[in-house]
Amino acid sequence: MERTLTILKPDCVRKQLIGAVAAMIENAGFRIVAMKKTRLTKETAGEFYAVHRERPFFGELVEFMSSGPCVPMILEKENAVEDFRKLIGATDPAEAAEGTVRKLHADSKGENIVHGSDSDENARIEGAFFFSAEEVVRVDK
Ligand code: RTP
Ligand code: MG
Repeated sequence: MERTLTILKPDCVRKQLIGAVAAMIENAGFRIVAMKKTRLTKETAGEFYAVHRERPFFGELVEFMSSGPCVPMILEKENAVEDFRKLIGATDPAEAAEGTVRKLHADSKGENIVHGSDSDENARIEGAFFFSAEEVVRVDK
């Protein structure tokens, strides 16, 4: 079993799509093994997306990710990282495949509803960013 980390971003929460997106996630075969509602500060959002620090969109990204509550989750499934990125679609909703979360719900490349880890190593790092070991609970049945 693999794990990935997702964040239902502040636009997802504002649009009252937490349930709709969580249903897509569960219907695609992912188990939610950790979940919380929280709010990033500019500092913590910048830390989470530190890899993009030099990119022109970094300031906008930090503003957006700290603009309201978000819902991070750790998801479990075989091939979780790759399958989850398929489920959410391309970064820019205009380029995302039909039926993907971003195609269905995102307004723009910046405000694109969900985050998904891009590797197993980053999934572990990002999972630990939001959750302690006691908050990750695997239920088999
Ligand atoms: P994420 O990390 O959030 O899952 O998204 P991603 O892998 O599909 O895209 P990435 O290149 O890692 O970019 C991270 C987030 O930065 C915002 N972004 N805005 N305006 C822009 O050109 C632009 N490019 C990226 C998006 O919120 C993107 O998800
Ligand atoms: Mg990324």
